[in-house]
Amino acid sequence: MSEIVVVGSMNMDFVVSVERYPQRGETIIGKEFLMSPGGKGANQAATIGNLGGDVTFLAACGKDIFGDQLLTNLKSFGVNVEHVIRCEDTPTGIASITLESKGENRIVVIPGANHRLSVSNIERLAEEIKKAKVVLLQLEIPLETVLRTIEIAYEHNIQVVLDPAPARKLPEEIYAKIDYILPNEGEITQLCAGYNLITEKERINKLLALGVGGILITKGEQGVTYYSTEQTITQPAIQTKVVDTTGAGDIFAGAFVFGLQKGWALEDSIKFATCAAGLSVARQGAQSSIPTFTEVKEALQVMDPSSYQKLFCA
Ligand code: RIB
Repeated sequence: MSEIVVVGSMNMDFVVSVERYPQRGETIIGKEFLMSPGGKGANQAATIGNLGGDVTFLAACGKDIFGDQLLTNLKSFGVNVEHVIRCEDTPTGIASITLESKGENRIVVIPGANHRLSVSNIERLAEEIKKAKVVLLQLEIPLETVLRTIEIAYEHNIQVVLDPAPARKLPEEIYAKIDYILPNEGEITQLCAGYNLITEKERINKLLALGVGGILITKGEQGVTYYSTEQTITQPAIQTKVVDTTGAGDIFAGAFVFGLQKGWALEDSIKFATCAAGLSVARQGAQSSIPTFTEVKEALQVMDPSSYQKLFCA
């Protein structure tokens, strides 16, 4: 098993580009259609692999053509997929993505085999998970599978990073077992549904009070802000032409975990991940937009020469 284990989803993305979203009951003519590998878990694992990280992906897909294509693509990024479960009777997950001309998207996921990744599958792989240094998860697989994986990692002092997408209410006791949580602004609101909290600051304080180690709120063109009980770090995004934001959050998460696993300072990992996500939005697709290690290094050199010096020239 690798130093980084990603547990999550894999989808074939069906991307339709449009000038604007249709109204209810309206038909419009779109611009372009693209089929490309996606799924939040797979996008994150592919990012780590492409940056040169040692990563194993635990997931489920169908025994079908999409499953074959997604696995071939992940292998080309250097991801270890030997433990991915192939379901005979459930198809590979798909995502229907409508992409607007400003690069914003609306996504509907049909989970298919992603929902077959069970607690017992994870328990069977527990010995392997225990060898990892960092475990990265999202919420496109059954919640009980996510929670059990976090328990196993926590019991063995493995760092846990959760990208809580698509967001849903989580059991309160799980927060104390998460080192870093990476919601966007909408997701932190959904995580805190029912607490009657008005401001983002109140929501941040709630999650910190529940015991999460640190919160990284991704804000698209506004960059990201990190909050813990000790510090706040604000990192502006890099300026770039936005073509497609699909997968940018996943590429941020993967690059952030890559930095963590390398033992880089938190601030440097955040800067590196911001560069990776910023480069990705200038390209189309999810995994097709993942930058190389060299590209991210070069972007960091421009964004913050001293961080670049510290990481790569010391
Ligand atoms: O985060 C982007 C991803 O969300 C897409 O690749 C799609 O498959 C959905 O999982």
